[in-house]
Amino acid sequence: MIPVAPPVLIDDVYTDDQHRRLFDVVKRHGPWPTITAHHFDTVEELIATSSGIVPANHGMTLDDIATAHFRGIYGEHSTCLYDEIADCYYNPAFLEMVKRYWGAAYARPTLMLFNLCGPHHSGLNPHLDATTFRGIRIENSPVWLQNIMAKSGLFDAYLEKMAQVITWWYLGPRGTFTYWPDGPDRPPQHLDTPIWNRGVVVQNEQMFHRGDPVGDPAERDIPGLKHRSRIEYRPDAGDWAITTDGAVIRAYRPEQMRLLVHWSAQVYADRAELRASTDHSDDLTHEQVFTALLADLRRRGVAVTEPSDPLHDQDFIRALLTTYQVRPTTDWLTADAA
Ligand SMILES: [Fe+2]
Repeated sequence: MIPVAPPVLIDDVYTDDQHRRLFDVVKRHGPWPTITAHHFDTVEELIATSSGIVPANHGMTLDDIATAHFRGIYGEHSTCLYDEIADCYYNPAFLEMVKRYWGAAYARPTLMLFNLCGPHHSGLNPHLDATTFRGIRIENSPVWLQNIMAKSGLFDAYLEKMAQVITWWYLGPRGTFTYWPDGPDRPPQHLDTPIWNRGVVVQNEQMFHRGDPVGDPAERDIPGLKHRSRIEYRPDAGDWAITTDGAVIRAYRPEQMRLLVHWSAQVYADRAELRASTDHSDDLTHEQVFTALLADLRRRGVAVTEPSDPLHDQDFIRALLTTYQVRPTTDWLTADAA
């Protein structure tokens, strides 16, 4: 769980005009769901992506652990979804950065998204971003499965090379970024706030990281927040509103907002690797993955019945979580940082 190269800090990542257009998409095309609503149907699936363990019969729902952090997709499958930000997505400078980061010959953009929030309590567990393998990727698989595969170490021969350019705009208190570039058992580093148009080139699916709580502690409570809550810009009021089932439960002033733009690319060392990745001649299938995971659990003496629906079998998922536990140390994080 160490990235291929140390994170590279960059300043002035986007032009002012690009930032305005990126933010305009967020303003015009909402409301936007929570990050967790994009990716998770159960508490177990969410925990599989971070680093905690939930006991059986915990009785928690996704509403109990909902956080007011919202997400939208700018582009996916190497396709930009909004013409007005095509230059941000098909970005030659970013492609050069990720090629240099890997020492690789070729790259193409894959996923681009934003995370938007105001002051809120964030989850404190560090996590990995969705790891991509030949045949198993975010477009066809749940994030928890991708990360269990990464933590298991069983599928490393199928790992796709990825890198991200992640950029922040936030002038309020707290809202720092903590990351573990030297591995989960070494002290983490922090990207401090205020931060404006500052970014980092990383391999976030091989480096534990977390967005720290945003805003002053007294501003973070959001009564009525649910897994299904959404955020939208209100042009008349000039503010941002979180709604649950259409009812406004919280409004933020523009200066309270923290925007993160995540641009991700797939990288290829050479033509042979590009071909192997794109002709699907050496892809993993879900069946292969679950067969290998089940065999490994049995080899380790973990008692688990063969799941008929492994993507949704809670006992099976819990067994995977317990077995492949990798958890960064947080001893270095002070109570104040939390
Ligand atoms: Fe992440």
